[in-house]
Amino acid sequence: MSDLAGLTEQARAAIGASDDLSSLDAVRVHWLGKKGVLTEELKALGKLPAAERPAAGQRINEVKAAVQAAIESRREALESAAVALALEAGRIDVTLPGRGEHRGTLHPITLARQRIERLFRNAGFAVETGPEIEDDFHNFAALNIPPDHPARAMHDTFYFPDGRVLRTHTSPVQVRTMLSQKPPLALIAPGRVYRWDNDLTHSPMFHQVEGLVVGEDVSFANMKAALHEFMQGFFERDLALRLRPSYFPFTEPSAEVDISCVFCEGQGCRVCKHTGWLEVAGCGMVHPNVFTACGIDAERWTGYAFGFGIERLAMLRYGVNDLRLFFDNDLRFLRQFTSA
Ligand code: DAH
Repeated sequence: MSDLAGLTEQARAAIGASDDLSSLDAVRVHWLGKKGVLTEELKALGKLPAAERPAAGQRINEVKAAVQAAIESRREALESAAVALALEAGRIDVTLPGRGEHRGTLHPITLARQRIERLFRNAGFAVETGPEIEDDFHNFAALNIPPDHPARAMHDTFYFPDGRVLRTHTSPVQVRTMLSQKPPLALIAPGRVYRWDNDLTHSPMFHQVEGLVVGEDVSFANMKAALHEFMQGFFERDLALRLRPSYFPFTEPSAEVDISCVFCEGQGCRVCKHTGWLEVAGCGMVHPNVFTACGIDAERWTGYAFGFGIERLAMLRYGVNDLRLFFDNDLRFLRQFTSA
């Protein structure tokens, strides 16, 4: 019979030297497999004298069990080392600073529009909308601009082949509202308008806000007060406001609205061309012909209307000196506007 103590030492050494699961398995096969060293020892028992066999067999089985146990504990050690290695490799450092994300911002024209809507809503105005593709009646005729009226030339209209137009102003929404609702009325109508015009201060698409108030004794003074209140709210400061006589076919009398320059407080600067005043809107008392076209009794009702450009007001409020910045969609520009 072989030197079992020596074999045990050899087996332990081989087990300790295997540093991965497959070499450990090769060691197992070598010692305990069908033709393994210890299996062969058991087979050789038959060559021993019968009296010695039980003790020898027991001894070999003890060695087998010891080797088996040594292999098992080595396997466990190797397996947990492999898990630890995998955990270490996949470790996430939660203390690393994040990569950073940019939250989108609303477009400055949207912010200005929302601000305008909020101010007028607070003053009791409803917010109405209308289609951007209009017919001649709503965009022109009902607003007292008949087919051969010279004011049409001022509108640089985009026409569709069927005679419809891209609306040149938001005034058609007053017509639509007067046709669909009964006075008294107080509304604004913000939205896109289109004109065949493109230069430093004009864009073929821009935004306007139309205003309309109709009641039984609405006055020119009411109009001036409402516009003054709005302009001071929009620019968040005390301003002077003046009306200059003007002409619009849909109002009589008509006026241009000037506010004291928001850059120089009326002292005179480049922006106000040294006049101290900025022209910001058109307005007037609703023309009786407009009421009549909309089925409203011009003897009973009076009203005022006004219109202004959102880009113009936004440029003044935010100090933007080039209209095109609003349409370039350069994120470096847009990201500067986080609140109205
Ligand atoms: N519709 C005019 C424009 O596009 C703006 C305007 C002026 C609207 C006077 C009005 C108004 O309602 O009374 O230039």
